[in-house]
Amino acid sequence: MYLLGLTTLGDSAATIVCDGEVVAAAEEERFSRVKHHSGFPYEAVAYCLEEAGIGIADVDHVGLYWKPWIVGRKLAQTAKSLVTDRDMFKARVDRGVSGVGASYASMLTFPALLRRRFGPSDFKFHYLEHHPCHAASAFFVSPFDRAAILTMDGTGEETTTMFATGRGNRLTPSKRIKVPHSLGQFYSAITNFLGFDMFQGDEWKIMGLAAYGKPEYYDFLSTRVLTLDGPLGFRVDNRVLDHHLAKHYQFSDEIVRALGPPRQADEEISERHQNIAASAQRVLEDVVLQLVADLAEQTGEENLCLAGGVAFNSVMNGRIIRESSFDHVFIQPVAGDAGCSLGAAYLLYHQKLDRPRTYRMRHAYFGPSFTSAECAAALTAAGLPFETLPDDELLPRVARMVADGAIIGWFQGRMEFGPRALGNRSFIADPRRTDMRELLNKKVKLREWFRPLAPSLVEEASAELFGWDHRDPFMVTVIDVAEEQRALLPAIVHVDGSARPQTVSRETNPRYWQLLREFERLSGVPALLNTSFNVQEPIVCTPANAVRTFLASNFDALVIEDHIVVRQP
Ligand SMILES: [Fe+2]
Repeated sequence: MYLLGLTTLGDSAATIVCDGEVVAAAEEERFSRVKHHSGFPYEAVAYCLEEAGIGIADVDHVGLYWKPWIVGRKLAQTAKSLVTDRDMFKARVDRGVSGVGASYASMLTFPALLRRRFGPSDFKFHYLEHHPCHAASAFFVSPFDRAAILTMDGTGEETTTMFATGRGNRLTPSKRIKVPHSLGQFYSAITNFLGFDMFQGDEWKIMGLAAYGKPEYYDFLSTRVLTLDGPLGFRVDNRVLDHHLAKHYQFSDEIVRALGPPRQADEEISERHQNIAASAQRVLEDVVLQLVADLAEQTGEENLCLAGGVAFNSVMNGRIIRESSFDHVFIQPVAGDAGCSLGAAYLLYHQKLDRPRTYRMRHAYFGPSFTSAECAAALTAAGLPFETLPDDELLPRVARMVADGAIIGWFQGRMEFGPRALGNRSFIADPRRTDMRELLNKKVKLREWFRPLAPSLVEEASAELFGWDHRDPFMVTVIDVAEEQRALLPAIVHVDGSARPQTVSRETNPRYWQLLREFERLSGVPALLNTSFNVQEPIVCTPANAVRTFLASNFDALVIEDHIVVRQP
């Protein structure tokens, strides 16, 4: 039985599940080369069908991650913001105030659209509620037979936060919090207050910046903006911080009095900006920790599953793992809306079709792969001279180059699903070099100096590096590096002594694991700096993308399957 899951607005994506196993999953942005591609994921669907070796006629069920007819509260929120702001009203009218409404209405045409594009099929089409898709994306692929579930994002149809329990192949929501009370919208609004862009997914930057600041504005934000409201409850006062106004960089007098003027996009980052980021981050963490504590108490469960865009906050995740009473935590690595395509397929498979659980998500390598010949063809087409080597020559050579200071574009196997490069589409470098973070951020990735970089390590070395056997194949958690290790790994240890590691298992990524071992042999360090293989665009997908990125930027070598190209000085 084949099921197709779809995400179609913001981080569009498709997932194909066959008899309960993920066959393929990818974000549309990787094909269209438009970051956070929003719109029907034609190319992702085409890829998933091709990878599965089927046509649309073979698909039994299609699940969409949205119920377009639930619009009440969200429309009310938008309407209220429009009334309070004439300029914004005009802007909306100019852009088509019906933009959002039209995209919801267009969802009703999706079944026809799929058939028109991919051919006739008698699949059954299901519109599924957004937060249960998030919840399914975590629980149904987790290692747990039973768990408490918490989903948090900007907003779904109108729900922003959902509490649920999972038992076997059943998922039961217990409480929903709706707009304007939204943890994701709170964080996005602060993102814009600090001069970044919520629509570009700049929320990452606030978390990175927070490490440099002190939470001086904590009291204001935690009493006037985002406040706890009884067990399993919180409120956002949008008279003080309105997400819809923040979208247009407009802020209330009260918040400007308390925090000072909002930062302009081109303004230098000051200590005050860092302190605002640190304060917002801490308030978010504390509110979520309380919600998690309430959930533990009310459910009595030992396991917790998290999903929704807020679960990308790896610093918050680290605190949940360390400080909450849950024994085990599973965080869906594709926590944002792209992961809802996977969730939609599993929600159908278990909840609607009552099939038993058999699958556990151990990796995220669900995207396209390319043969050695295809990779060679891309290099030849670009006129790049390359060598082709067996792994027992190639891996030691790459490790040696890294140890000598090279930054390598590393491309192998199936592309990762989700925003993290996990060793198949990664830049790798030496984590022991103090200048490497700045070099990578400024010279290669062309982005802000404060963006943290993370390590990949062989999972067997986890206890040595962190003081306990922390396993995270998905890079979703920030944890402390053991004190005595910090000075050895300056490029991947944050200012506060923490890191966001990917623990690599020999079983799920043997070649990358072997490369880490080769580097350890030379350096004594079983870790590499790993950051996503992209420069100001989506992570590379095809060999041609990798080659183009190599030609347009200035890293030292490109390894693409068994071929290596070294940049000539
Ligand atoms: Fe969402």
